[in-house]
Amino acid sequence: MYKSTVEWLDSRYQIRSRVKKNFLDKTVPKHATAFWYCFGGLAFLSFVVQITTGAFLLFYYVPDPDKAYQSIYYISHIVPYGWFIRGLHFFCANFMISFVLLHTLRVFYTGSYRNPRELTWLSGVLAMLLTLAMAFTGYLLKWDQIAFWGMTAVSNFMKYIPLVGNDIRMIILGGDAVSGSTLSRFFALHIALVPAILIIILGAHFWMIRKLGISRPL
Ligand code: HEM
Repeated sequence: MYKSTVEWLDSRYQIRSRVKKNFLDKTVPKHATAFWYCFGGLAFLSFVVQITTGAFLLFYYVPDPDKAYQSIYYISHIVPYGWFIRGLHFFCANFMISFVLLHTLRVFYTGSYRNPRELTWLSGVLAMLLTLAMAFTGYLLKWDQIAFWGMTAVSNFMKYIPLVGNDIRMIILGGDAVSGSTLSRFFALHIALVPAILIIILGAHFWMIRKLGISRPL
């Protein structure tokens, strides 16, 4: 059954030869197998875990100011393995940020930002900012005292940005203080807008890496 399905698909779309050419037969230079070259891949793997566990959390999470906290309590204490999925989502968020930082240090140390990889570096900077935006927006979704007052404090700092600070703060909060509108905005940013842009930016990042190849050793 499996074999005939693969044959059927392959005769139409040549999947096997494409996978062979682009993945299985693709050679990697020996220097790029050193362990400090693995952090970009590990950051990506963490992102995949985040998307998967995040999708499961969405089965039960309710982005309503009256229900958000209880829905998280429900996930952690009542849903079978909910604590595990939530724990994975929490730890992989920390891993992803750590791996992105280690990856940046590796790329900086090996001077891989130089000609012709300037745009790979810039797309990486965008990916890093978006990763931090994922953490920033996800933090409020717990809707507990720490998240609420933490966001209140952080948003108050924004007032001190000259000229535009207060406007940015109002747009981010959806009003003058942290409220249900803020939760709705952060939820939309966290589960849709920011990850969608991050996926596009990472697509560009990987495409450029594929086009230019990995940088030579120092
Ligand atoms: C979510 C964030 C990111 C992911 C998933 C990611 C993923 C990757 C992967 C898988 C590679 C292949 C080589 C390796 O792993 O070291 C790579 C290469 C590269 N990345 Fe990233 N990256 C991210 C963020 C960044 C950041 C923040 C920067 C710099 C500010 C950056 C700059 C580069 C450059 C310049 C290369 C080419 C390295 C070379 O040719 O030696 N990336 N990235």
